[in-house]
Amino acid sequence: MNKLEIPEHIAIIMDGNGRWAKKLGLNRIFGHRNGVRAVRETVEACGEIGVKYLTLYAFSTENWHRPSDEIEALISLLVEAIIKNTPDLDKNNVQFRTIGNIASFPENVADKLNQAVKFTSKNSGLILTLALSYSSRWEITEAVKKIAEKTAAGEIKPENINESVIEKYLTTYGMPDPELIIRTSGEQRLSNFFLWQGAYSEFYFPAVLWPDFNKKSLFKAVEEYRRRERRFGKTGEQIRQEKDLI
Ligand code: IPE
Ligand code: IPE
Ligand code: MG
Repeated sequence: MNKLEIPEHIAIIMDGNGRWAKKLGLNRIFGHRNGVRAVRETVEACGEIGVKYLTLYAFSTENWHRPSDEIEALISLLVEAIIKNTPDLDKNNVQFRTIGNIASFPENVADKLNQAVKFTSKNSGLILTLALSYSSRWEITEAVKKIAEKTAAGEIKPENINESVIEKYLTTYGMPDPELIIRTSGEQRLSNFFLWQGAYSEFYFPAVLWPDFNKKSLFKAVEEYRRRERRFGKTGEQIRQEKDLI
């Protein structure tokens, strides 16, 4: 694939674990366990084609409303996967990050996550971000609070608040917006993910359930992305003219 047409940032809403397990007559947790393999393949595939940022929506603010045994299983799978895969991520030069309300997890879980972040912080390859206890409305609310505090303290003037000031207070500060957002399982909604960052993202909704997602599925998504024309409010003619000038 032509490097120029590879998205710099891909974000994925990993959906369909429960339905995948149900189809096999097994419980939802079995689906989550099998979702971990799909994560590994996706990380590898992104590394292979030179994606710089991969963000995975793994647990939403609203997911705290699930039955407690499912939440507990998800959390222990998460810790297990982090402990097991951090050395490999490190070997592959992957920098691991998290976004979300990490403090809402039990202390030992937050510690494990922060350790993995620290351990891989010097790596210069793929930046893998897990969105955990994350939601856009939570993030935007937090940003508004911080900006309001600074404004009250006289550190920010209201007339100087612009999009870049707001971006500074989002959890994704420093990351480019995702060019491509994929949601598996056929559902076509954002479920409170990247409401700000996804303003101009291309959306792709494959029917595949997350545990069946593999390298080929990722490459197919990128192929589809390359066929799109991103116009950012301009006309198609303008965009094609600009392309010819490059
Ligand atoms: C995605 O799969 C994983 C999380 C939200 C944690 P689901 O658990 O939502 O699976 P479905 O949508 O019920 O099939
Ligand atoms: C969205 O999936 C959250 C994650 C994939 C982490 P859900 O399965 O929780 O979303 P809804 O409830 O179907 O919208
Ligand atoms: Mg779901």
